[in-house]
Amino acid sequence: MAGAKYVCRIGKTKPVFLISSLKNQFTCHTRKDVFCTHLRGITTTPFPEFQGDPQLKSHADLYNASLQNPDYFWGTLAKSRLQWFQKFNQVKDCDINKGHIRWFMDGKLNASVNCVDRYAKKTGDAIALIWEKDEPGTEEYVTYRQLSQMVNKMANMLKSSGVGRGDRVAIYLPTSPVAVAAMMACARIGAIHSVVFAGFSSDALAGRIIDADAETVITADEGVRGGKLIPLKQTVDAAVAQCPCVKRVFVYQRTGNDVPMNKLDISLDKEMACQSDVCDPEEMGSEDLLFMLYTSGSTGKPKGIAHSTAGYLLYAGITQKHVFDYQEGERFGCVADIGWITGHTYVVYGPLSNGATTVLFESTPTYPDPGRYWEMVQRLKLNQIYLAPTSLRLLLKEGNEWVTKYDRSSLRKLGCVGEPLNSEAYDWYNDVIGDGKCEVVDTWWQTETGGIAIAPRPSAKGAKIVAAKPMRPHFGIQPALMDKDGKELTGSNVQGALCIKSVWPGMARTIYGDHKRFLDTYYNPYPGYYFSGDGAHRCEEGYYQITGRMDDVMNVSGHRIGTAEVEDAMDNHAQVAETAVVGYPHDVKGEGIYAFVVPMGDVDPEEADALKAELKLMVKTVIGSFAQPDKILFTPGLPKTRSGKIMRRILRKVADNKPDELGDISTLVDPSVVEILVQRHSEEFKV
Ligand code: PRX
Repeated sequence: MAGAKYVCRIGKTKPVFLISSLKNQFTCHTRKDVFCTHLRGITTTPFPEFQGDPQLKSHADLYNASLQNPDYFWGTLAKSRLQWFQKFNQVKDCDINKGHIRWFMDGKLNASVNCVDRYAKKTGDAIALIWEKDEPGTEEYVTYRQLSQMVNKMANMLKSSGVGRGDRVAIYLPTSPVAVAAMMACARIGAIHSVVFAGFSSDALAGRIIDADAETVITADEGVRGGKLIPLKQTVDAAVAQCPCVKRVFVYQRTGNDVPMNKLDISLDKEMACQSDVCDPEEMGSEDLLFMLYTSGSTGKPKGIAHSTAGYLLYAGITQKHVFDYQEGERFGCVADIGWITGHTYVVYGPLSNGATTVLFESTPTYPDPGRYWEMVQRLKLNQIYLAPTSLRLLLKEGNEWVTKYDRSSLRKLGCVGEPLNSEAYDWYNDVIGDGKCEVVDTWWQTETGGIAIAPRPSAKGAKIVAAKPMRPHFGIQPALMDKDGKELTGSNVQGALCIKSVWPGMARTIYGDHKRFLDTYYNPYPGYYFSGDGAHRCEEGYYQITGRMDDVMNVSGHRIGTAEVEDAMDNHAQVAETAVVGYPHDVKGEGIYAFVVPMGDVDPEEADALKAELKLMVKTVIGSFAQPDKILFTPGLPKTRSGKIMRRILRKVADNKPDELGDISTLVDPSVVEILVQRHSEEFKV
């Protein structure tokens, strides 16, 4: 691989080398850091595309145009921000009543060209990726030119083993340059990637591989997180044993430790080494699927949310630039794992489509100590940080000295996503992390929306930010709150089901292999509207605040977990007759998982702890350790209506220590069960 360099940064005191065999292919070298300093205060990044338009002077003009003249608004941006092989003929073909969403008809483009090639050509030495590896101070830098070489080689590797347009590729990798290259390589050859968070169990991974009918898996020998090794290959082996569809498994050497290599396994490092670094990109249609990403819903079966090439990419880029006011040369630090949508949109596609420098965070917020994020901010001179409220809640308990000892003056914008931002966490973020000099943007969006849908910025010049609220709809987003009867609530100070009545390019196109479920979940509940599954409140001033999920989905540390998924996992235990799982307020995780379990017969008190441990293990095996219940309560029965429906409202009140707010329980078949639940709960958890 002539001339290709995969760099690692030479640290201040000692050189840092790639520990994988990729080091044989890429030369390490030092580079001068190029930092960019900007004013930390409010700036509203202008849209150069509309600057000559006298009709579009203010933010309000732009917002109105995005709704009233979407063809002009999005068509102009798509032409100027994306690079096309063939221009589109029609901006959109959407019918929200039917959940029919199509953008940029007849256009042809390639996402990897947009995210990599155009910058490799123009500013090849600019840093594309900063791989913030698990051990602080061992970061590695990848320029756009180097990323391009990796992507081309990997694309050729996939192609030469038979992967082509429309094929699904499962990616089970740690957040790393190889993971980004794998996503881009798929995009380059027109394959659809399905990244599975590398914390999911083998069963969960297998389910996702089978649902996508993926023939190819890309994984690593091991992951490294918080100083611990994670046996990724072992998990993949157990998954692949259940997946007859899999024909090949590429294994990247993240640690280089020995792992058994089986019949289907191919060394990614060796295979890439013998590939050419030129791979012509496929000309993809705007609506060709770029990727799918599984997320939880109300049933036990996760949904493969599918995103398009052009619409998704445009929306990812626009939101990354304008919500965070990203300026050329800045360093964007979204600390999400690439296995979640935030990792897709704001670690990979958004920043790279803007030619930004993006951070790949491999570690945890508390490794090696609770100062990790802020030490990283100082060392890498990050200009934006984007994280989950759960990590703020965790870190603020550790005290301010973990923050104040590091220089955070490079920071301008502080983002958060994934769960409601409580005001204590907001204040700490704003006052301590940002020293009151940065802006906190609480962003609301979902796997399905593709990118940020409600956020305080962009906004009119000088517009205020109200603490801990996503506040304002983004361009193209027209929120609506619906009442119980399915009618839209008008005016201010109202609360209801959060829907969106407009169409925007980033919205999901389907659930892979189940379009009916897509329509039933998102479009049929409120005809003419996209239903988010969340509730929201619109205040006096018209700003939005999210009140939480309205369906049986929990939000644990910003991870979406279906109650049914956890129940299904525990129901498999031979000693379990039935379970009901609910979320309850948790001071760090936002929501904790509470499982009410009806065992077969009585549980011997001596054996209760052992059974609980087995149930947790079942959840770990079927889903992953992040979905294990925090609390398990054995009960002789569940509160059910005559039609057999579990009244989760009651379970939520019990779990939340609010027995006085149980409300009417007369419709239950056996109201006495409620008393037992309340009593056992208070005994077990000493409330
Ligand atoms: O309930 C909302 C919550 O996270 C859900 C989406 O989860 P997921 O698809 O995994 O994507 C997470 C990252 C985009 C939403 O339905 N959520 C997301 N952002 C916020 C939020 N809840 C409150 N405030 C937010 N800012």
